[in-house]
Amino acid sequence: MLSNQAADPAKRKSLHGHWSSRMAFILAVTGSAVGLGNIWRFPYIVGENGGGAFVLVYLACVVVIGMPVMMSEILMGRRGRRNPIATMELLGAEEGKSPNWKVVGAMGVLAGVLILSYYAVVGGWTLSYVLKSGSGQFANATPEIVTSLRDKFLGSWSTVALYHTIFMGLTIFVVARGVERGLEQAVRFMVPALLLLMVVLLGYSIASGHFGEGVAFLFKPDWSKLTWDMVLTAMGQAFFTLSIGMGAVMAYGAYLPEETSIPGSATAVAISDTSIALLAGLVIFPLVFANGMDPGDGPGLVFVTLPLAFGQMPGGVFFATLFFVLLTFAAWTSAISLMEPAVAWIVERFNKTRAQAAVAIGLLIWALGFGTVLSFNVLSDFTFWRGTIFDNLDHLTLNIMLPLGGLLIVVFAGWVMCRNSTADELGGSGAVYKLWRFLARVVAPIGILFVFLKAVGLLPEFS
Ligand code: TRP
Repeated sequence: MLSNQAADPAKRKSLHGHWSSRMAFILAVTGSAVGLGNIWRFPYIVGENGGGAFVLVYLACVVVIGMPVMMSEILMGRRGRRNPIATMELLGAEEGKSPNWKVVGAMGVLAGVLILSYYAVVGGWTLSYVLKSGSGQFANATPEIVTSLRDKFLGSWSTVALYHTIFMGLTIFVVARGVERGLEQAVRFMVPALLLLMVVLLGYSIASGHFGEGVAFLFKPDWSKLTWDMVLTAMGQAFFTLSIGMGAVMAYGAYLPEETSIPGSATAVAISDTSIALLAGLVIFPLVFANGMDPGDGPGLVFVTLPLAFGQMPGGVFFATLFFVLLTFAAWTSAISLMEPAVAWIVERFNKTRAQAAVAIGLLIWALGFGTVLSFNVLSDFTFWRGTIFDNLDHLTLNIMLPLGGLLIVVFAGWVMCRNSTADELGGSGAVYKLWRFLARVVAPIGILFVFLKAVGLLPEFS
Protein backbone atom coordinates (compact mmCIF):
# COMPACT_ATOMS: atom_id res chain seq x y z
CA MET A 1 0.00 0.00 0.00
CA LEU A 2 1.32 3.45 -0.87
CA SER A 3 2.14 5.50 2.21
CA ASN A 4 -0.28 8.24 1.21
CA GLN A 5 -3.24 5.87 1.28
CA ALA A 6 -3.77 5.57 5.03
CA ALA A 7 -7.42 5.79 6.06
CA ASP A 8 -6.73 8.34 8.81
CA PRO A 9 -5.86 11.68 7.14
CA ALA A 10 -3.51 12.55 10.01
CA LYS A 11 -1.40 9.47 9.24
CA ARG A 12 -1.09 10.04 5.50
CA LYS A 13 2.29 10.94 4.08
CA SER A 14 3.05 12.43 0.72
CA LEU A 15 5.15 10.32 -1.64
CA HIS A 16 7.15 13.40 -2.59
CA GLY A 17 8.53 14.34 0.84
CA HIS A 18 7.45 17.09 3.24
CA TRP A 19 8.49 20.69 3.91
CA SER A 20 11.06 20.88 6.65
CA SER A 21 9.12 23.52 8.61
CA ARG A 22 6.18 25.92 8.60
CA MET A 23 8.51 28.64 7.35
CA ALA A 24 9.63 26.45 4.46
CA PHE A 25 6.02 26.05 3.35
CA ILE A 26 5.28 29.76 3.59
CA LEU A 27 8.43 30.49 1.62
CA ALA A 28 7.56 27.97 -1.05
CA VAL A 29 4.03 29.27 -1.51
CA THR A 30 5.32 32.85 -1.45
CA GLY A 31 7.88 31.83 -4.06
CA SER A 32 5.04 30.49 -6.15
CA ALA A 33 2.86 33.55 -5.64
CA VAL A 34 5.49 36.25 -6.15
CA GLY A 35 6.53 36.27 -9.75
CA LEU A 36 5.87 37.83 -13.11
CA GLY A 37 2.25 38.26 -12.07
CA ASN A 38 3.25 40.94 -9.56
CA ILE A 39 5.97 42.81 -11.42
CA TRP A 40 5.29 42.22 -15.07
CA ARG A 41 1.53 41.61 -15.37
CA PHE A 42 0.03 43.66 -12.54
CA PRO A 43 1.34 47.07 -13.73
CA TYR A 44 0.44 46.63 -17.39
CA ILE A 45 -2.98 45.22 -16.69
CA VAL A 46 -3.68 48.10 -14.29
CA GLY A 47 -2.48 50.46 -17.02
CA GLU A 48 -4.73 48.90 -19.64
CA ASN A 49 -7.72 49.02 -17.33
CA GLY A 50 -7.45 52.61 -16.28
CA GLY A 51 -5.90 52.46 -12.79
CA GLY A 52 -7.53 52.97 -9.37
CA ALA A 53 -10.94 51.37 -9.89
CA PHE A 54 -9.29 48.21 -11.19
CA VAL A 55 -6.85 48.11 -8.27
CA LEU A 56 -9.63 48.37 -5.68
CA VAL A 57 -11.66 45.62 -7.32
CA TYR A 58 -8.53 43.48 -7.46
CA LEU A 59 -7.82 44.04 -3.74
CA ALA A 60 -11.41 43.15 -2.85
CA CYS A 61 -11.10 39.94 -4.91
CA VAL A 62 -7.89 38.99 -3.09
CA VAL A 63 -9.58 39.31 0.30
CA VAL A 64 -13.06 37.90 -0.19
CA ILE A 65 -12.38 35.36 -2.94
CA GLY A 66 -8.65 34.69 -3.02
CA MET A 67 -8.15 34.05 0.69
CA PRO A 68 -10.93 31.46 1.11
CA VAL A 69 -9.87 29.69 -2.11
CA MET A 70 -6.25 29.56 -0.97
CA MET A 71 -7.19 28.16 2.44
CA SER A 72 -9.45 25.58 0.79
CA GLU A 73 -6.65 24.45 -1.52
CA ILE A 74 -4.18 24.05 1.34
CA LEU A 75 -6.57 22.15 3.56
CA MET A 76 -7.64 19.82 0.77
CA GLY A 77 -4.05 19.19 -0.23
CA ARG A 78 -2.98 18.39 3.30
CA ARG A 79 -5.92 16.10 3.90
CA GLY A 80 -5.45 14.13 0.68
CA ARG A 81 -1.64 14.21 0.57
CA ARG A 82 -1.65 13.33 -3.15
CA ASN A 83 -1.57 15.12 -6.46
CA PRO A 84 -4.63 17.36 -6.97
CA ILE A 85 -6.45 14.87 -9.22
CA ALA A 86 -6.06 11.97 -6.78
CA THR A 87 -6.72 14.19 -3.78
CA MET A 88 -10.09 15.33 -5.11
CA GLU A 89 -10.99 11.79 -6.09
CA LEU A 90 -10.08 10.49 -2.63
CA LEU A 91 -11.75 13.27 -0.65
CA GLY A 92 -14.88 13.11 -2.80
CA ALA A 93 -15.22 9.39 -2.06
CA GLU A 94 -14.23 9.77 1.58
CA GLU A 95 -16.92 12.38 2.19
CA GLY A 96 -19.44 9.96 0.74
CA LYS A 97 -19.84 12.07 -2.41
CA SER A 98 -18.63 11.54 -5.95
CA PRO A 99 -15.02 10.64 -6.85
CA ASN A 100 -15.66 12.47 -10.12
CA TRP A 101 -14.57 15.68 -8.45
CA LYS A 102 -11.17 14.61 -9.77
CA VAL A 103 -12.17 16.35 -13.01
CA VAL A 104 -11.53 19.64 -11.21
CA GLY A 105 -7.99 18.46 -10.47
CA ALA A 106 -7.55 17.46 -14.10
CA MET A 107 -8.69 20.87 -15.32
CA GLY A 108 -6.13 22.38 -12.96
CA VAL A 109 -3.32 20.27 -14.37
CA LEU A 110 -4.31 21.41 -17.85
CA ALA A 111 -4.49 25.06 -16.76
CA GLY A 112 -1.00 24.79 -15.28
CA VAL A 113 0.37 23.42 -18.53
CA LEU A 114 -1.25 26.17 -20.59
CA ILE A 115 -0.21 28.97 -18.21
CA LEU A 116 3.36 27.77 -18.03
CA SER A 117 3.52 27.61 -21.83
CA TYR A 118 3.34 31.39 -21.88
CA TYR A 119 4.86 32.10 -18.50
CA ALA A 120 8.11 30.44 -19.56
CA VAL A 121 8.31 32.68 -22.62
CA VAL A 122 8.06 35.82 -20.48
CA GLY A 123 10.53 34.20 -18.06
CA GLY A 124 12.83 34.02 -21.07
CA TRP A 125 12.36 37.75 -21.77
CA THR A 126 13.44 38.45 -18.19
CA LEU A 127 16.47 36.24 -18.56
CA SER A 128 17.57 38.02 -21.70
CA TYR A 129 17.23 41.34 -19.87
CA VAL A 130 19.84 40.14 -17.37
CA LEU A 131 22.35 40.09 -20.21
CA LYS A 132 21.09 43.30 -21.80
CA SER A 133 21.46 45.21 -18.55
CA GLY A 134 24.74 43.53 -17.64
CA SER A 135 26.29 44.60 -20.92
CA GLY A 136 25.37 48.22 -20.22
CA GLN A 137 22.87 48.62 -23.06
CA PHE A 138 20.57 50.77 -20.95
CA ALA A 139 23.16 53.22 -19.64
CA ASN A 140 21.82 56.74 -20.22
CA ALA A 141 19.28 55.39 -22.68
CA THR A 142 16.36 57.52 -23.88
CA PRO A 143 12.76 56.24 -24.03
CA GLU A 144 13.24 55.76 -27.79
CA ILE A 145 16.31 53.59 -27.30
CA VAL A 146 14.79 51.27 -24.69
CA THR A 147 11.58 50.97 -26.68
CA SER A 148 13.39 50.05 -29.84
CA LEU A 149 15.62 47.58 -27.98
CA ARG A 150 12.52 45.86 -26.65
CA ASP A 151 10.73 45.84 -30.00
CA LYS A 152 13.79 44.49 -31.73
CA PHE A 153 14.09 41.73 -29.14
CA LEU A 154 10.43 40.70 -29.22
CA GLY A 155 10.47 40.89 -33.01
CA SER A 156 13.13 38.23 -33.32
CA TRP A 157 11.36 34.94 -32.75
CA SER A 158 14.54 32.88 -32.72
CA THR A 159 16.13 34.97 -29.96
CA VAL A 160 12.96 34.82 -27.88
CA ALA A 161 12.76 31.05 -28.47
CA LEU A 162 16.36 30.62 -27.34
CA TYR A 163 15.75 32.28 -23.96
CA HIS A 164 12.41 30.54 -23.58
CA THR A 165 14.21 27.23 -24.09
CA ILE A 166 16.82 28.07 -21.44
CA PHE A 167 14.14 29.15 -18.97
CA MET A 168 12.13 25.97 -19.54
CA GLY A 169 15.30 23.91 -19.08
CA LEU A 170 15.95 25.56 -15.71
CA THR A 171 12.39 24.83 -14.62
CA ILE A 172 12.55 21.18 -15.65
CA PHE A 173 15.87 20.87 -13.81
CA VAL A 174 14.51 22.03 -10.44
CA VAL A 175 11.24 20.14 -10.72
CA ALA A 176 13.12 16.95 -11.55
CA ARG A 177 15.23 17.30 -8.40
CA GLY A 178 12.23 17.59 -6.09
CA VAL A 179 10.43 20.33 -4.27
CA GLU A 180 12.45 20.76 -1.10
CA ARG A 181 15.97 20.63 -2.42
CA GLY A 182 17.06 23.96 -3.75
CA LEU A 183 13.68 25.64 -3.73
CA GLU A 184 13.64 26.54 -0.05
CA GLN A 185 17.08 28.11 -0.19
CA ALA A 186 16.36 30.03 -3.37
CA VAL A 187 13.18 31.57 -1.98
CA ARG A 188 14.66 32.40 1.41
CA PHE A 189 17.12 34.70 -0.32
CA MET A 190 15.09 35.87 -3.28
CA VAL A 191 11.95 37.30 -1.70
CA PRO A 192 13.73 39.63 0.80
CA ALA A 193 16.27 40.70 -1.82
CA LEU A 194 13.57 41.49 -4.34
CA LEU A 195 11.68 43.48 -1.73
CA LEU A 196 14.79 45.47 -0.85
CA LEU A 197 15.52 46.31 -4.46
CA MET A 198 11.93 47.39 -5.01
CA VAL A 199 12.37 49.81 -2.12
CA VAL A 200 15.50 51.23 -3.77
CA LEU A 201 13.49 51.66 -6.97
CA LEU A 202 10.70 53.27 -5.00
CA GLY A 203 13.14 55.91 -3.76
CA TYR A 204 14.07 56.58 -7.35
CA SER A 205 10.51 56.84 -8.52
CA ILE A 206 9.67 59.22 -5.64
CA ALA A 207 12.55 61.39 -6.85
CA SER A 208 11.24 61.35 -10.42
CA GLY A 209 8.93 64.26 -9.59
CA HIS A 210 5.80 62.45 -10.79
CA PHE A 211 5.18 60.29 -7.75
CA GLY A 212 1.89 61.98 -6.88
CA GLU A 213 0.58 61.36 -10.39
CA GLY A 214 1.56 57.69 -10.14
CA VAL A 215 -0.12 57.28 -6.75
CA ALA A 216 -3.28 58.95 -8.01
CA PHE A 217 -3.38 56.68 -11.05
CA LEU A 218 -2.94 53.60 -8.89
CA PHE A 219 -5.35 54.42 -6.08
CA LYS A 220 -7.79 57.11 -7.17
CA PRO A 221 -10.74 55.26 -8.64
CA ASP A 222 -12.35 56.58 -11.78
CA TRP A 223 -15.54 54.52 -11.59
CA SER A 224 -16.48 55.41 -15.15
CA LYS A 225 -13.82 52.88 -16.18
CA LEU A 226 -15.70 50.08 -14.43
CA THR A 227 -17.07 47.38 -16.73
CA TRP A 228 -17.86 43.75 -15.96
CA ASP A 229 -15.14 42.64 -18.30
CA MET A 230 -12.74 44.71 -16.22
CA VAL A 231 -14.03 43.14 -13.01
CA LEU A 232 -13.46 39.70 -14.53
CA THR A 233 -9.90 40.71 -15.44
CA ALA A 234 -9.30 41.96 -11.87
CA MET A 235 -10.61 38.68 -10.49
CA GLY A 236 -8.41 36.70 -12.90
CA GLN A 237 -5.39 38.71 -11.79
CA ALA A 238 -6.21 37.96 -8.13
CA PHE A 239 -6.24 34.23 -8.89
CA PHE A 240 -3.11 34.41 -10.98
CA THR A 241 -1.04 36.40 -8.54
CA LEU A 242 -1.95 34.15 -5.59
CA SER A 243 -1.26 31.01 -7.67
CA ILE A 244 -4.73 29.65 -6.91
CA GLY A 245 -7.48 27.93 -8.87
CA MET A 246 -5.41 25.20 -10.53
CA GLY A 247 -4.10 23.06 -7.68
CA ALA A 248 -0.55 24.41 -7.35
CA VAL A 249 -1.16 25.43 -3.75
CA MET A 250 -3.07 22.18 -3.24
CA ALA A 251 -0.02 20.25 -4.42
CA TYR A 252 2.20 22.22 -2.05
CA GLY A 253 -0.33 21.73 0.76
CA ALA A 254 0.14 17.98 0.34
CA TYR A 255 3.67 18.39 1.68
CA LEU A 256 2.59 20.51 4.67
CA PRO A 257 3.31 19.24 8.22
CA GLU A 258 0.23 18.39 10.26
CA GLU A 259 0.59 21.08 12.95
CA THR A 260 1.03 24.16 10.73
CA SER A 261 -1.72 26.82 10.87
CA ILE A 262 -3.39 27.14 7.48
CA PRO A 263 -5.12 30.53 7.98
CA GLY A 264 -1.88 32.00 9.32
CA SER A 265 0.17 30.75 6.39
CA ALA A 266 -2.38 31.90 3.81
CA THR A 267 -2.51 35.38 5.35
CA ALA A 268 1.28 35.70 5.37
CA VAL A 269 1.46 34.73 1.71
CA ALA A 270 -1.36 37.05 0.61
CA ILE A 271 0.12 40.04 2.43
CA SER A 272 3.61 39.66 0.98
CA ASP A 273 2.27 38.95 -2.50
CA THR A 274 -0.05 41.95 -2.53
CA SER A 275 2.60 44.29 -1.11
CA ILE A 276 5.04 43.38 -3.85
CA ALA A 277 2.42 43.99 -6.56
CA LEU A 278 1.44 47.39 -5.12
CA LEU A 279 5.09 48.30 -4.74
CA ALA A 280 5.65 47.44 -8.39
CA GLY A 281 2.78 49.75 -9.31
CA LEU A 282 4.17 52.55 -7.14
CA VAL A 283 7.55 52.18 -8.83
CA ILE A 284 6.35 51.95 -12.40
CA PHE A 285 3.58 54.53 -12.83
CA PRO A 286 5.56 57.59 -11.67
CA LEU A 287 8.23 56.53 -14.17
CA VAL A 288 5.63 56.13 -16.91
CA PHE A 289 4.40 59.69 -16.34
CA ALA A 290 7.89 61.15 -15.83
CA ASN A 291 8.87 59.85 -19.26
CA GLY A 292 5.67 60.82 -21.02
CA MET A 293 4.76 57.21 -21.73
CA ASP A 294 1.38 55.52 -22.13
CA PRO A 295 0.30 53.44 -19.08
CA GLY A 296 -1.70 51.22 -21.45
CA ASP A 297 1.44 50.18 -23.33
CA GLY A 298 0.74 46.47 -22.75
CA PRO A 299 2.89 43.43 -21.95
CA GLY A 300 6.18 45.20 -22.67
CA LEU A 301 5.61 47.96 -20.08
CA VAL A 302 8.15 46.95 -17.40
CA PHE A 303 10.71 46.10 -20.03
CA VAL A 304 10.76 49.76 -20.97
CA THR A 305 10.12 51.70 -17.77
CA LEU A 306 12.58 49.92 -15.51
CA PRO A 307 15.55 49.88 -17.93
CA LEU A 308 14.96 53.60 -18.39
CA ALA A 309 15.05 54.27 -14.66
CA PHE A 310 18.11 52.11 -14.14
CA GLY A 311 19.82 53.75 -17.10
CA GLN A 312 19.62 57.12 -15.41
CA MET A 313 20.64 56.18 -11.86
CA PRO A 314 24.18 55.91 -10.50
CA GLY A 315 25.30 52.29 -10.38
CA GLY A 316 22.47 51.55 -12.77
CA VAL A 317 24.18 48.73 -14.63
CA PHE A 318 24.68 46.87 -11.38
CA PHE A 319 21.18 47.47 -10.03
CA ALA A 320 19.50 46.65 -13.32
CA THR A 321 21.38 43.38 -13.62
CA LEU A 322 20.61 42.45 -10.02
CA PHE A 323 16.95 43.33 -10.53
CA PHE A 324 16.49 41.15 -13.60
CA VAL A 325 18.39 38.30 -11.94
CA LEU A 326 15.96 38.48 -9.00
CA LEU A 327 12.96 38.72 -11.28
CA THR A 328 14.18 35.67 -13.17
CA PHE A 329 14.46 33.83 -9.85
CA ALA A 330 10.96 34.94 -8.88
CA ALA A 331 9.62 33.70 -12.22
CA TRP A 332 11.53 30.46 -11.80
CA THR A 333 10.07 29.64 -8.35
CA SER A 334 6.60 30.34 -9.78
CA ALA A 335 7.14 28.24 -12.89
CA ILE A 336 8.10 25.29 -10.72
CA SER A 337 4.77 25.39 -8.97
CA LEU A 338 2.87 25.55 -12.26
CA MET A 339 4.42 22.23 -13.21
CA GLU A 340 4.16 20.49 -9.83
CA PRO A 341 0.54 19.21 -10.09
CA ALA A 342 1.20 17.63 -13.49
CA VAL A 343 4.46 16.07 -12.35
CA ALA A 344 3.05 14.76 -9.06
CA TRP A 345 0.18 13.25 -11.02
CA ILE A 346 2.42 11.48 -13.55
CA VAL A 347 4.69 10.14 -10.80
CA GLU A 348 1.80 8.73 -8.79
CA ARG A 349 -0.42 7.58 -11.64
CA PHE A 350 2.15 6.09 -14.01
CA ASN A 351 4.83 5.17 -11.51
CA LYS A 352 7.51 7.26 -13.23
CA THR A 353 10.45 9.03 -11.60
CA ARG A 354 10.24 12.79 -11.03
CA ALA A 355 12.90 13.31 -13.67
CA GLN A 356 11.00 11.36 -16.33
CA ALA A 357 7.77 13.15 -15.51
CA ALA A 358 9.41 16.59 -15.51
CA VAL A 359 11.11 16.05 -18.86
CA ALA A 360 8.00 14.64 -20.54
CA ILE A 361 5.61 17.35 -19.39
CA GLY A 362 8.30 20.03 -19.78
CA LEU A 363 8.84 19.19 -23.44
CA LEU A 364 5.13 19.40 -24.10
CA ILE A 365 4.94 22.81 -22.41
CA TRP A 366 8.02 24.00 -24.26
CA ALA A 367 6.46 23.07 -27.61
CA LEU A 368 3.19 24.81 -26.72
CA GLY A 369 5.26 27.88 -25.81
CA PHE A 370 5.88 28.59 -29.48
CA GLY A 371 2.33 29.86 -29.73
CA THR A 372 3.36 32.72 -27.45
CA VAL A 373 6.88 33.15 -28.86
CA LEU A 374 5.36 33.80 -32.28
CA SER A 375 2.51 36.02 -31.03
CA PHE A 376 4.86 39.00 -30.82
CA ASN A 377 6.44 38.66 -34.25
CA VAL A 378 5.66 36.21 -37.07
CA LEU A 379 2.05 35.65 -35.99
CA SER A 380 1.33 39.07 -34.52
CA ASP A 381 -1.35 39.68 -37.15
CA PHE A 382 -2.93 36.27 -36.67
CA THR A 383 -5.78 37.29 -34.39
CA PHE A 384 -9.15 35.82 -33.36
CA TRP A 385 -11.55 36.11 -30.38
CA ARG A 386 -9.43 38.09 -27.89
CA GLY A 387 -6.45 38.83 -30.13
CA THR A 388 -3.20 36.93 -30.67
CA ILE A 389 -2.54 33.38 -29.49
CA PHE A 390 -0.95 34.92 -26.38
CA ASP A 391 -3.99 37.10 -25.69
CA ASN A 392 -6.30 34.10 -26.01
CA LEU A 393 -4.23 31.87 -23.76
CA ASP A 394 -4.07 34.64 -21.20
CA HIS A 395 -7.83 35.21 -21.25
CA LEU A 396 -8.79 31.53 -21.36
CA THR A 397 -6.54 30.47 -18.49
CA LEU A 398 -6.54 33.47 -16.16
CA ASN A 399 -10.03 34.84 -16.63
CA ILE A 400 -11.90 31.59 -17.22
CA MET A 401 -10.07 28.44 -16.10
CA LEU A 402 -8.66 29.78 -12.81
CA PRO A 403 -11.90 31.37 -11.52
CA LEU A 404 -13.86 28.27 -12.60
CA GLY A 405 -11.34 26.02 -10.83
CA GLY A 406 -11.48 28.27 -7.78
CA LEU A 407 -15.28 28.18 -7.77
CA LEU A 408 -15.34 24.39 -7.82
CA ILE A 409 -12.62 24.21 -5.15
CA VAL A 410 -14.48 26.44 -2.65
CA VAL A 411 -17.73 24.66 -3.36
CA PHE A 412 -15.95 21.40 -2.66
CA ALA A 413 -14.36 22.58 0.59
CA GLY A 414 -17.44 24.49 1.72
CA TRP A 415 -20.29 22.19 0.69
CA VAL A 416 -18.96 18.74 -0.23
CA MET A 417 -16.58 18.31 2.70
CA CYS A 418 -18.30 17.99 6.05
CA ARG A 419 -17.81 20.45 8.86
CA ASN A 420 -15.71 18.08 10.92
CA SER A 421 -13.19 17.48 8.16
CA THR A 422 -12.58 21.13 7.39
CA ALA A 423 -12.60 22.24 11.04
CA ASP A 424 -10.08 19.50 11.73
CA GLU A 425 -7.68 20.99 9.15
CA LEU A 426 -8.31 24.63 9.99
CA GLY A 427 -7.70 24.20 13.71
CA GLY A 428 -11.14 24.06 15.34
CA SER A 429 -14.37 25.92 14.81
CA GLY A 430 -13.56 29.37 16.22
CA ALA A 431 -14.20 32.76 14.66
CA VAL A 432 -11.59 32.35 11.91
CA TYR A 433 -13.18 29.06 10.92
CA LYS A 434 -16.66 30.57 10.82
CA LEU A 435 -15.44 33.44 8.68
CA TRP A 436 -13.70 31.08 6.28
CA ARG A 437 -16.76 28.89 6.00
CA PHE A 438 -19.05 31.81 5.29
CA LEU A 439 -16.70 33.16 2.62
CA ALA A 440 -16.15 29.69 1.11
CA ARG A 441 -19.81 28.68 1.09
CA VAL A 442 -21.51 31.92 0.20
CA VAL A 443 -19.45 34.96 -0.69
CA ALA A 444 -16.79 33.46 -2.94
CA PRO A 445 -19.03 31.14 -5.01
CA ILE A 446 -21.70 33.77 -5.55
CA GLY A 447 -19.08 36.42 -6.26
CA ILE A 448 -17.26 34.34 -8.87
CA LEU A 449 -20.45 33.17 -10.54
CA PHE A 450 -21.92 36.65 -10.62
CA VAL A 451 -18.84 38.21 -12.20
CA PHE A 452 -18.72 35.42 -14.80
CA LEU A 453 -22.34 35.74 -15.79
CA LYS A 454 -22.14 39.51 -15.89
CA ALA A 455 -19.00 39.50 -18.01
CA VAL A 456 -20.52 37.23 -20.64
CA GLY A 457 -23.73 39.24 -20.56
CA LEU A 458 -25.94 36.48 -19.20
CA LEU A 459 -27.42 38.60 -16.43
CA PRO A 460 -29.68 41.53 -17.19
CA GLU A 461 -28.40 45.07 -16.73
CA PHE A 462 -29.95 46.82 -13.79
CA SER A 463 -28.12 50.10 -13.96
N1 TRP B 1 1.55 33.56 -9.03
C1 TRP B 1 2.59 33.53 -10.01
C2 TRP B 1 2.88 34.97 -10.42
O1 TRP B 1 2.25 35.86 -9.95
C3 TRP B 1 2.24 32.65 -11.19
C4 TRP B 1 1.82 31.30 -10.79
C5 TRP B 1 2.59 30.34 -10.22
C6 TRP B 1 0.52 30.75 -10.87
N2 TRP B 1 1.84 29.23 -9.97
C7 TRP B 1 0.59 29.45 -10.34
C8 TRP B 1 -0.68 31.25 -11.33
C9 TRP B 1 -0.57 28.67 -10.25
C10 TRP B 1 -1.82 30.46 -11.25
C11 TRP B 1 -1.77 29.19 -10.71
O2 TRP B 1 3.76 35.21 -11.20
